[in-house]
Amino acid sequence: MSALNKIAQTLVSNRRGILAADESIGTMSARLEGVGVEPSAESRRVYRELIVTTPKLAESISGVILADETFYQKLDNGRTFPEYLQDIGILAGIKVDTGAKPLAGSPDEKITEGLDGLRERVADYVRLGATFAKWRAVITIGDDMPSERAVHANAHALARYAGLCQEGGLVPIVEPEVLMDGSHSLATCREVTTSVLKTVFAELELMKVELDGIVLKPNMVVAGTGSGEQPSVEDVATATVESLREAVPSSVPGISFLSGGQDPEVATHHLGAMQKLDPLPWELTYSFGRALVGPALEAWRGDENNRAAGQEALSVRAVANAAAR
Ligand code: 13P
Repeated sequence: MSALNKIAQTLVSNRRGILAADESIGTMSARLEGVGVEPSAESRRVYRELIVTTPKLAESISGVILADETFYQKLDNGRTFPEYLQDIGILAGIKVDTGAKPLAGSPDEKITEGLDGLRERVADYVRLGATFAKWRAVITIGDDMPSERAVHANAHALARYAGLCQEGGLVPIVEPEVLMDGSHSLATCREVTTSVLKTVFAELELMKVELDGIVLKPNMVVAGTGSGEQPSVEDVATATVESLREAVPSSVPGISFLSGGQDPEVATHHLGAMQKLDPLPWELTYSFGRALVGPALEAWRGDENNRAAGQEALSVRAVANAAAR
């Protein structure tokens, strides 16, 4: 087993999953303001400390994805976040993309940036305790979208990122997210998701990325939020797994879904229903952001007196998702 494969296996096995706590400074600040907390480097640090010090987190969480800011911050006990996670048996990950920007020639579509200087940044993150990384590409469904140009440019960037991570010793989480926004049907989401994944795997192969040393982080196949369609939990599970079967090679050790704005409990139900389908070649797990930490943020609202309630809310979601596996 290669070192990369071992890390990837650790991330997706033993009924654990990944916690995405890597919101950008802008996104995290907006979420804090949403619950009445003044955003600052310190309030973001305090909130992230609440998350990672949740009792028994390591029983259901294998890895935590950190933002660059958090990666260099310290807990009250003086340990850096990657050091602390290592202490409690959780792998530390780092988001290395620098965000999605409008794509030239397709202003309504986005291309994720962050390749410049990535080799050097990977070396720094590895030295400071990271074992895996994340890069998120976003694909929009709409009139004449996604364009072939947007899908190809994003798949190419994901593959170059993945290659650089593996060269430096990090397991890349490869995240092509087909957004839920829009009036598209479940069938359209399935078609687009399959096609995007096929393009991503073609690019990964071209860049000689070792597939047994990555984790794929896709969207679940759902109907657009504005479609009026409400597919059953079973329909979502079946469409998602069929799409993955068509596009994802069996050498990939695990698939960890993003939640993408789904209701936290519904996302858990979808994950549970997928496990009941015929034996799958990969582990299927979670790499949720909002569906894990959303209820915790709501329960905490910046009040130290609510700290335990916030941690309990995270615990409830983490345990439920582990059980769904
Ligand atoms: P959500 O689960 O909130 O979609 O976040 C996952 C993630 O890491 C997005 O990049």
